[in-house]
Amino acid sequence: MKIAVRYYTRSGNTRKLAEAIAQALNVEAQTVDTPLTEKTDLLFLGSSYYAFDVDPHVKSFLVENQFKLGKVVCFGTSAMLGSTRGQIAKVTETTGTALAQEEFHCPGSFGPFHKGRPNAEDCQNAAAFAKNYVNKEEQK
Ligand SMILES: Cc1cc2nc3c(=O)[nH]c(=O)nc-3n(C[C@H](O)[C@H](O)[C@H](O)COP(=O)(O)O)c2cc1C
Repeated sequence: MKIAVRYYTRSGNTRKLAEAIAQALNVEAQTVDTPLTEKTDLLFLGSSYYAFDVDPHVKSFLVENQFKLGKVVCFGTSAMLGSTRGQIAKVTETTGTALAQEEFHCPGSFGPFHKGRPNAEDCQNAAAFAKNYVNKEEQK
């Protein structure tokens, strides 16, 4: 099964989760500036909220790589709004890309809020989520 990890970050919070997930899955965490080079069964895609939306680079990655994408699995951080999956779904619904119901999300530090998050436990949880998800897909 071909697996990839892509993420977008401004202050490094989502990168922490991306690197934990990538390490657990023995792949490299790369930003959404790196296109997919081959058909990818599972893409773990990291994003965050900025002014109530995900960054346009994340959306354009999904559109530009749509023909190489099997299923997208969301992970991410935010200060208040919770999961970005709903914003990602708006794009995958237009491209017809499968999007996993399951996702990993945790608070991300922002000014005085959520200092130190994601922390080591968040990263461990993200890695465990990703490994469990892959195991489940491989058993299908
Ligand atoms: C310019 C800016 C706007 C933000 N807007 C939101 C927002 O609308 N809702 C929210 O929950 N978090 C918001 N945040 C907080 C980020 O989503 C949070 O800090 C996240 O962990 C950042 O991840 P990153 O370091 O990977 O970019 C904002 C952060 C920045 C820098």
